[in-house]
Amino acid sequence: MSLSEVKLIELPKITDFRGSISFAEGNNHIPFDIKRVYYLYESPPNAERGAHGHKKLEQVIIPISGSFDFILDDGHARQKYVLDKPWVGLYVPPMMWRDVNNFSVGSVCLVLASDTYKEEDYYRDYQEFLNAARK
Ligand code: TYD
Repeated sequence: MSLSEVKLIELPKITDFRGSISFAEGNNHIPFDIKRVYYLYESPPNAERGAHGHKKLEQVIIPISGSFDFILDDGHARQKYVLDKPWVGLYVPPMMWRDVNNFSVGSVCLVLASDTYKEEDYYRDYQEFLNAARK
């Protein structure tokens, strides 16, 4: 997959005097069936997360509170996405190395994933990822 397949997804946002609500449905706003939800929280501002790639997993990343940087690498080029709007998610296709950092205090990173947790789907070694991504 290449960085050209990464996209920002604008979710519905309904605002009235009570505040705002956004939502995301699998196979509708989210381009896959959602099989798992997880979230990163209590992240120290200097935390470095990610540092892995996935063979098949697709994800949408939503900064439901605060902000952080998501850096994607397809094996040829690198692109930084500043995620700071709770109504805008980042679609991450398979075969993307990602680094996540610059967390604001109290930020919450919600991840919608196309599959359950499977360690065998991970590349944890950057060189191994590069070899596969450049094939
Ligand atoms: P990891 O994917 O390495 O975290 P990140 O990319 O956010 O830095 O996961 C950290 C730990 O949590 C690791 O021991 C695996 C475990 N984990 C699960 O058991 N299930 C999950 O769904 C996720 C995302 C992680």
